[in-house]
Amino acid sequence: MIIAVDGPTASGKGTIAKALAAHFGLPHLDTGLLYRAVGRQCALDGGNADDPGDALKACNFPDSLLDDPELRSEATGGLASRVSVHPAVRRALYERQRAFATQPGGAVLDGRDIGTVIAPEAEVKLFVVASVPARAERRFKEMQATGRSVTLAEIAADLEARDARDRSRAEAPLIAAADAVLLDTSDLGRDEAIAEAIRIAESAHRW
Ligand code: C5P
Repeated sequence: MIIAVDGPTASGKGTIAKALAAHFGLPHLDTGLLYRAVGRQCALDGGNADDPGDALKACNFPDSLLDDPELRSEATGGLASRVSVHPAVRRALYERQRAFATQPGGAVLDGRDIGTVIAPEAEVKLFVVASVPARAERRFKEMQATGRSVTLAEIAADLEARDARDRSRAEAPLIAAADAVLLDTSDLGRDEAIAEAIRIAESAHRW
């Protein structure tokens, strides 16, 4: 039983994926974290995220990097979006994600291309969206909580730039799978969005 949760940044897909995993007792992988680790490792190596060779080299990041709080920053999100454009980087991260998705018993994965590339056979596919103002507001609150100084306008501009890059890249662009169910969380609170996602998953699959 594979559950694919895709969508743009700050749409709520991570929260929803974690809640689905807890509800159905399945392991969860945040695939964005892998791309963030590549972006961060590339910067640590003094490499250029736009250079395919530098980005590919950074795919050998140590697993300990996945615990680095800096991975959650907007700056690392931007680097992740740049390294994720390179087909060689996507290929290098494919097996790890595929193995997680196909483990016995199933799994929940969230990202951009889970329902289209990593696990097209997933029984449940959700494509989570929200308006730019709703997403910027959420990200702003998260940033304030961590004490980072960034304005709402900067966050909105960054989200739009990242969406545009993720949607327009040639390899595995951000796009809903034809058989995905769209979930718009713009006007939903956290618990409402989770309840709706569980309802969709339950109706898509007989547990
Ligand atoms: O989801 P998150 O914001 O952590 O992802 C960071 C970046 O990693 C995204 O903007 C996207 O460019 C890239 N990504 C991807 N494919 C995935 C997950 C993330 O290209 N499955």
